Amino acid sequence: MDNVGNVRKKPVIRRLSDYKLASTLQNQVWQTLKSRISSQSLEISSVVDLGCGSGVNTFGLLDMFPDAQILGVDSDAPMMCYLNDQHEGCRFVVGDFGEWIAPGPVDMVVSSSALHWASDPEVALKCISGYLAEEGRVFLAIFGPKTYWEFQEICDALVKGRVEIPAKHFLPLTDWERLFELDFEIVWRDTWEDLAIFDSTLDILRMMHKTQTQGRGLVHWAPGLLRAFDAAYHARFGGVRISHEIGFYELRLRPGRSRRISE
Ligand SMILES: C[S@@+](CC[C@H](N)C(=O)[O-])C[C@H]1O[C@@H](n2cnc3c(N)ncnc32)[C@H](O)[C@@H]1O
Repeated sequence: MDNVGNVRKKPVIRRLSDYKLASTLQNQVWQTLKSRISSQSLEISSVVDLGCGSGVNTFGLLDMFPDAQILGVDSDAPMMCYLNDQHEGCRFVVGDFGEWIAPGPVDMVVSSSALHWASDPEVALKCISGYLAEEGRVFLAIFGPKTYWEFQEICDALVKGRVEIPAKHFLPLTDWERLFELDFEIVWRDTWEDLAIFDSTLDILRMMHKTQTQGRGLVHWAPGLLRAFDAAYHARFGGVRISHEIGFYELRLRPGRSRRISE
């Protein structure tokens, strides 16, 4: 697998002031995935965008493959309903990573900044391999547990057990790679370690809220705690900074694992 891409530590250091909160990171992640997709001359007639959220990438995929059938899938029912009402050219359906199966073989599955939320990643990957066309490709950008780890460390020190960051439970990228190998070959991969510098803990909380990392329990913070967090951050990390660990992958089905649904 070592020949499929670089494992690259790429500390991208940014200040929040020139960094428009969560959507900037999500957009950067998508741009990386998109440039990989564009660099492949793929014959695509059907695309699924898994965990499509607001549909911004789904419409990007429509621009890239205007003749393809493009389907966005997300567990957020009101958002899917809204998108179906507002937009033409793509279709949106409600589905969970662990359950949703496409009605026919799909040439390309894309999932950007989303699949790490799957409650059972192995089942989610089985669902994909169940409907991916024989020559199909999967393009993923997933976050690992080294995302927000600094935040978790300070939470553990200051408010033991009261604030748990969901990223703590994200699967390590090496575990994802072991799961991929059950049904897929890794064609390409890249990894980022992104370091964002924030002006204050409050900015981090805003960011986490936007990225759906909604740190449960944050609302219960006592007055003065944010200040204590800031102080703890500065003492421990020399600034208010948050890491994101992101893995990018292109996968194809292993020989003999071709689609089951059309057979
Ligand atoms: C951070 S957003 C990314 C949205 C979009 N892919 C982007 O890059 O802008 C993650 C999305 O995954 C969806 N999601 C989370 N868990 C899910 C699940 N189990 N099944 C389907 N979608 C899920 C959320 O509703 C959300 O829209």
